[in-house]
Amino acid sequence: MICPTYTVLLTVLFALTSFGSSSHVLFDGGTIVIFSEQARAVQVLRNHSVLIEGDRISAVFPAGSDHRVPSDTEVIPANGKIISPGLAESVDWNATPVELGISYDEFYNAPKSDVDGVIGLISPTLLNELGLLNGSTPVIFSHATGITPDDVALLRQYNHHIAIAPESEMHFGHGYPHSHKVMDQAALAIDASWAWSGDLVSQARLWLQSVRLRLYQEALDNWTIPKNSPMSVSQAFLLATRAGAQALRRSDLGIISAGAKADIVVFDGNAFNLMGWNNPVAAIILHSHPGNVEHVLVDGQFRKRDFKRVIPRVASRSLEDATDRFLNSARRLQTQFLKDPPIILGGDHKPAAPYITLNEVDALPGEGTGY
Ligand SMILES: *[C@@H]1O[C@H](CO)[C@@H](O)[C@H](O)[C@H]1NC(C)=O
Ligand SMILES: *[C@@H]1O[C@H](CO)[C@@H](O)[C@H](O)[C@H]1NC(C)=O
Ligand SMILES: *[C@@H]1O[C@H](CO)[C@@H](O)[C@H](O)[C@H]1NC(C)=O
Repeated sequence: MICPTYTVLLTVLFALTSFGSSSHVLFDGGTIVIFSEQARAVQVLRNHSVLIEGDRISAVFPAGSDHRVPSDTEVIPANGKIISPGLAESVDWNATPVELGISYDEFYNAPKSDVDGVIGLISPTLLNELGLLNGSTPVIFSHATGITPDDVALLRQYNHHIAIAPESEMHFGHGYPHSHKVMDQAALAIDASWAWSGDLVSQARLWLQSVRLRLYQEALDNWTIPKNSPMSVSQAFLLATRAGAQALRRSDLGIISAGAKADIVVFDGNAFNLMGWNNPVAAIILHSHPGNVEHVLVDGQFRKRDFKRVIPRVASRSLEDATDRFLNSARRLQTQFLKDPPIILGGDHKPAAPYITLNEVDALPGEGTGY
């Protein structure tokens, strides 16, 4: 199955509705990953504390300094913990803070006229002709693997972003001939995680290593040997945090800084798989797994605490009810999917681009391939 090359999201910012009463929390004496606007770089503050008042980060200061802390503040020791800004996913259809969106995933089954209508809306160049890029609404182009140099110029001119969904795009064979050249106007995305992983750190890791592979390979193909790495863990971290916020034009998200929204992820740096880390960004990007996430705060409210999910007090339904509905829906969709005839591609994808059959790999010695 193949997805459209471009879908577009017109995003409108919305105010995250917070629930529960506001609280004051101090993560005391941890390793904090910040972004320095002055240095334009990811930086690490060791043995520092983060104070959260209500839905905002109110201060970041060295542990033990005499910063005034409200008397009703809950103090959580953070020695050995890595405190990261919240991860900012730019396209997950279930979770992204998007109010208005255009998404079209039916390119193969819909009538041609419908498809043409949608295609007319989906590249930066065409949106620009419609006057939709020169405004205050941020636009995120997902799966922008067919992007052109003119499109990229428009993204930079009007400050819009592409969303790179590395695992989904690799899964479907979109390739990414150009996305690695547009990382200054890009954020990371999971896409709907029905056939790949659902966490953004995995996307950042896959993207980092696949960009490295691609750029190393270019040098190796020239019979030259690279002496440096073309992409760093800090760059992958930025794409997964601040860049997602920038794509939504939110300078108060995706960073840890006084005044920013209190969206925070605390990793347990004492976990076996992280033991011995020195660079907290490398620990997160290269070594962590979701089980290392000890606390998550969104808008200053715990959504995960002591490794356990926290259900909002004002949730629209109970966890059991939501789980039942999800499982029912999954069974219904899986049954329908198995009933539908398989999609068999033939002929040409477009002129001079025929569908071909790839040789499958052989993962089994002797008879059979294990496919
Ligand atoms: C952190 O700073 C405090 C206050 O200066 C100090 O007592 C403590 O030993 C430091 N912790 C580490 C792990 O360096
Ligand atoms: C973009 O919009 C602004 C304000 O509406 C206008 O002044 C400017 O000329 C526009 N630029 C382009 C390239 O259309
Ligand atoms: C490979 O060689 C070509 C031709 O000399 C050159 O244009 C290109 O930049 C080289 N690529 C790398 C990664 O060195």
